[in-house]
Amino acid sequence: MLGSFWKQNKRVKYTGLVSLILVALSITGCSVKQPRQVAIASAHPLATQAGFEILQQGGNVYDAAVAVSAALAVVEPSGSGLGGGGFWLLHRESDNLDIMIDGREKAPLLAHKDMFLNTSGEVNKQLSLNGVLAAGIPGMPAGLVHLSEQYGKLSLAENLQPAIRYAEQGFPIDGRHQKLLSFRKNILKQHAETADIFLAQGQIPDKNSLLKQSDLAQTLKQLADKGKAGFYQGIIADKLVNAVQKGGGFWTLEDLLKYRIIERKPVTGHYKGIKITSAALPSSGGIVLLETLNILENIDLNAVDSITRKHLITEAMRRAYHDRALYLGDADFIEVPVERLINKQYAQGLSSTLRTDRTLPSRYLSGQTPEKQGGRNTTHFSIIDNQGNRVAATLSINFPFGAGLVAEGTGVLLNNEMDDFVSAKNSGNGYGLVGGEANAIAPEKRMLSSMTPTFLQDDERIAVLGTPGGSRIISMVLLATLDFAAGHSPESWVKVKRFHHQYIPDQILYEKQGLSAEEITGLRALGHQLKQSYNYGNMQAVQLDKANNSLSAASDHRGEGLASVQQIHE
Ligand code: DON
Repeated sequence: MLGSFWKQNKRVKYTGLVSLILVALSITGCSVKQPRQVAIASAHPLATQAGFEILQQGGNVYDAAVAVSAALAVVEPSGSGLGGGGFWLLHRESDNLDIMIDGREKAPLLAHKDMFLNTSGEVNKQLSLNGVLAAGIPGMPAGLVHLSEQYGKLSLAENLQPAIRYAEQGFPIDGRHQKLLSFRKNILKQHAETADIFLAQGQIPDKNSLLKQSDLAQTLKQLADKGKAGFYQGIIADKLVNAVQKGGGFWTLEDLLKYRIIERKPVTGHYKGIKITSAALPSSGGIVLLETLNILENIDLNAVDSITRKHLITEAMRRAYHDRALYLGDADFIEVPVERLINKQYAQGLSSTLRTDRTLPSRYLSGQTPEKQGGRNTTHFSIIDNQGNRVAATLSINFPFGAGLVAEGTGVLLNNEMDDFVSAKNSGNGYGLVGGEANAIAPEKRMLSSMTPTFLQDDERIAVLGTPGGSRIISMVLLATLDFAAGHSPESWVKVKRFHHQYIPDQILYEKQGLSAEEITGLRALGHQLKQSYNYGNMQAVQLDKANNSLSAASDHRGEGLASVQQIHE
C-alpha cells in the first residue's frame, strides 16, 4: 500500500505520512531501519524520473544528478545540453564536503576582446547571440564525467542510459517547448539540419509530437563508452570543430582537448542564523546573493510596511548588482575583491546609504548606460536524500536553444554563452547586464554567470534550490531565501511573486500581479521606475526537515516540471 502511495506521480508529494508511521513504530518499540528516501525537483518529469530510475538501481544522489543532467540535455533541449555548461553544487554528508563543480564554458583560444565589434566599434549583437561565434567551449560533458567518476557509485554508462533512451525513442513535446521554439524559430530555420531536428517543415511541431534525436543518442553513447575523450577528442570533436569552422567560428581541436572542469570552494555566509552555501566565481550568483542578504541583515524587514520592504530589498539589489558590474569576472584571470564584497562591515556601510523616503538612482552609483532586458531559459534541478547528501545544479546553453544551431552529425546544440561576456563597455548583454574589464573576453576565460545553485541551512531544515532566468536568477533565489527565513515551505518559495532590480536598467521589473496597485503607487512615489514583465523563472526546490527526518519538494508552477519524494528500495 505504501509502495503505491510513493508511486503516484503528483507534482508535489510530501513524506509526512511515512514519517508519522515511522515515529509511531519507534514509539511502540518496534525497531525499524530508516528507509532511504530522496527528493528530486527538476524542470521536466522525464528528468526527475531518470534520477529515480538510477537511484533504484543502487545509485547515490550524485549518480542521480548525472542522470537528471543528461536527461534534461535531451528532453529540455531549449535549456541546457551537451553543448553547454553549468555548475553543480554538492554536499557529501560522510565527510561534510561542500564543493562546486565548475563546468562553465570558456572562450576559445582564438577569441579576443573585440570579436563582437564592427568596424565602427559598435557591438554586433547578432554575432554574440546567434551562430557559431556565440558559442563557448562546452563544459557539460566534462562535468557529467567528473561528477559520475569522482562522486557516483554506478558507471557513467549506467548513469547516461535514461538520456540515451529518451534521445533514441523520443519523447512528446510540451507547451513550454513549443513556446520556446517559437521564440527562436527564425534562427533555427536558418540551419537545415537544426530545422530538421526541431521543426516540422519549418513550423512548430504539434504538442505531444515525438522528438527523436538519433545523432544526440550516438554522441551520448560515445561519451558513455569513452568518457571525456568520447566528446573532446575523436569523431565528435572533429565534427564539432568542423561545424564551427565552417560557419567562420574560432574553435580548434586544441580548445576541446584543453577543456577542464574545475572544483571550487563554494561561497558561504550567514543571514539571521541561516547558513548560505552558493555558487562561486565564475558565477556572480553566490557573491551577489550574499552581499544583498548582508545589506538586508541590518534592517528589520518585518517591522516595515510592504512598500518599504520591497523598496529596501530593491535598493539592496541595486547596490549588489552594481558591484557585480564593477568587479566580477573569472577570478583565474583578474583580481576580484571577493572577501570585501561578502564582508559584513562592508554591507553595513552600504546599508547606511539606504533611505526609506526615496530611491538612489543608479546613475549616482556610477555612469553606465541602460540596456534591454531578456532571457527565458537554462535549467535547474535539486536533489536531497534523508541523510542530507545533496546536489543543486543550474545548467545552461544561455538563450532558448542556445546559438540556434546544431553541429552537423552530433545532435549537439551550440551554446551562446559568449554573450555573457562584456562585448563593449556600457553595452548590456542579452539580459541587460553591464560590466567592464573584469568580464572582458580573453582566450580560455570563463564568462561571468548569474547561475545560483544554493543550499540554505538552519537548525531544523536544509534546503536546496535554484532557477533559470538570466540576470534575475539571483533576485529570485534572494526572494526565496527570505521566504525560507520566514519559515515557509518549498511550495511557498517557488510561488513567491517576483520583482527584480539589477542596477541598470534603473527600474523594478515585476511579474504580473507581483505588486499590488498600492505598492506600485507607493514605489513610484519613492522615485522608482517600474516595468511589468511576463512571469519568469522555473524554480526547483527540495527540503529536509531534520526534526522529523521528512523530505518535501516543489516545482515552479510557471514551468512543467516534476517534484517528487520517493522511497528507494535497497
Ligand atoms: O550564466 C548565466 O547567467 C546565463 N547564461 C543564464 C541564462 C539563463 O538563465 C536564461 N534563462 N532565462
